[in-house]
Amino acid sequence: MSNRRDFMGMALGGFTALGGIGALYAMKRTWDPLPSVKSAGFTTIDLKDYKENVLATEKWRGKPVFVLKQTKEMIEKAKKNGELKRLIKVNDDYYMVAVGLCTHLGCIPGYNPADESFLCACHGGMYDSTAMVTKAPPPRGLDIPPFKIDGTKLVLGETGPEYEKMLADGTTMKV
Ligand code: FES
Repeated sequence: MSNRRDFMGMALGGFTALGGIGALYAMKRTWDPLPSVKSAGFTTIDLKDYKENVLATEKWRGKPVFVLKQTKEMIEKAKKNGELKRLIKVNDDYYMVAVGLCTHLGCIPGYNPADESFLCACHGGMYDSTAMVTKAPPPRGLDIPPFKIDGTKLVLGETGPEYEKMLADGTTMKV
């Protein structure tokens, strides 16, 4: 009788232990980020693929990111307006890279290449080709996402020294 009880006790203990391990495994799977989430933090783009005054919209962490290669005239204008610091320089080229969400209430502004400006149709806010606000109500220029320059590539989501400088001098807010 006692042998049988011992056996039942051991079997029950074994099941309990197995159940515990199973529960721990299930909990770990719940806590671990999905593989897609792990890789979604970074977006790598190659800046040599972009054309002057042609707006491209990329995606980073579910947000649209505008990339606009600047023409010579745009660069001159940005220099004059003191907005060159908003642009990312790679070799001899300059790029505007910004989160494509209006800083007023988050609509996506549209780009007009003819007058090189953005219009947010929601409340009429406007931005120039460096994505600096030129007409209220947006309170500031489009925000610049964290980036790191790697040759001609830009890794969005990584923080390089150029982005840190933009944060430090108030060129952009942290996204
Ligand atoms: S959301 Fe863009 S102007 Fe209001």
